[in-house]
Amino acid sequence: MAVPGATIAAAPFEVEKSTQLELSVVLPTFKERANVAEMIARLDAALKDCRWEAIFVDDNSPDGTADAVKAIARHDGRVRCIRRVGRRGLAGACIEGILSSSAPFVAVMDADLQHDETLLPGMLDVLQEGEADLVVGSRYIGGGSAASLGDSRGFISQFATTIARTVLGISLSDPMSGFFMMRRDRFDPLAGRLQPVGFKILLDIVTTAGGSLRIRELPFVFRTRHGGESKFDSQVGLEYLGLLLTKSTGGLVDPRFIFFMLVGTTGLAVHLATLKIALYFVLAFPVAQTIATLVAMTSNFLLNNGLTYRDRRLRGLAMFKGFAGFCAIGAVGAVTNVGLASWLYHERPIWWVAGAAGAVMGALWNYAMSSLFVWRAR
Ligand code: GDD
Ligand code: MN
Repeated sequence: MAVPGATIAAAPFEVEKSTQLELSVVLPTFKERANVAEMIARLDAALKDCRWEAIFVDDNSPDGTADAVKAIARHDGRVRCIRRVGRRGLAGACIEGILSSSAPFVAVMDADLQHDETLLPGMLDVLQEGEADLVVGSRYIGGGSAASLGDSRGFISQFATTIARTVLGISLSDPMSGFFMMRRDRFDPLAGRLQPVGFKILLDIVTTAGGSLRIRELPFVFRTRHGGESKFDSQVGLEYLGLLLTKSTGGLVDPRFIFFMLVGTTGLAVHLATLKIALYFVLAFPVAQTIATLVAMTSNFLLNNGLTYRDRRLRGLAMFKGFAGFCAIGAVGAVTNVGLASWLYHERPIWWVAGAAGAVMGALWNYAMSSLFVWRAR
């Protein structure tokens, strides 16, 4: 058996072969308290012949999922819990879980028992035989099934799969699968280039690796959820489109910027609508324009806070401070915009070139400064 990384001297002392770790199973969780104990029991039953650990990566679930894991971990050294605070995201949780592993092989699976843990030994065999670098649990090859998704989710899943295959040229049958196992040494070099938002960790890994991974697919039947409920929502869908955009432009377009611009566009609509209403109530134009500006700024801020920077969302007092910063940045952005446009117009009086250049400059400024100072990465 080939153990990746085995050539590196592990420790200056002999280690009992029977204590060497073979597999880390990374389980992202958000509000999965009801599934934790059953999940571990099933791993225990399925992985009798290998030395494994389970790494739960919990985003500070309000239902106390982390406590439930730690209560078990106290008695079972195979179980660990990473509790992340102030962050949300399935993909990011998986990335951190994998990075915390020292095992030669890592698996990622959902913690709600929808993924078939009895497939794990077979996946591990394929990797240990050196037949592949990545093994994917697929619902869309013979022997697999996604019937439990139901009609509408099933349609969305099929649709997203088709886009991935056509836009990104992925040949995988189930790039949306959240169930896979890979050599850790193949993951490590990719980690810095993966996106922590959204659900699509596997798709991201495969496209970022750019064809350098040998991939095998094994079928499994996607089960229905054990306890709790799904966290899939329209935001997850939007994040997926963002990932497609970044990947299909070779990382040129940052989806956050697209969201920021879209929010800016809605801001214009909000501004004009408010202006019209204010004028209808026969307010003086400067007053109406001021009100419209304030309303649009507020709506832009709230939308960016809930959507563009969802993973860094500000709450409570921080939100008020953030709003003040956002307005200040916007004011400077407006001055920059007008300054640049006026200068350009003076040099070459083509109104729309000067106007657009100023607007783009202002938008870039607002985006860059907001990312740095209002919604900074923690
Ligand atoms: N840490 C963390 N943070 N975990 C999360 C988050 C998050 O923000 N969101 C979801 N999870 C965890 C859930 O607790 C669960 O263990 C797993 O990720 C999958 O989330 P579900 O909410 O159960 O997703 P789903 O069943 O709707 O979607 C599944 O099927 C899709 C394909 O149809 C997932 O496997 C997806 O990855 C897959 O694409
Ligand atoms: Mn699920």
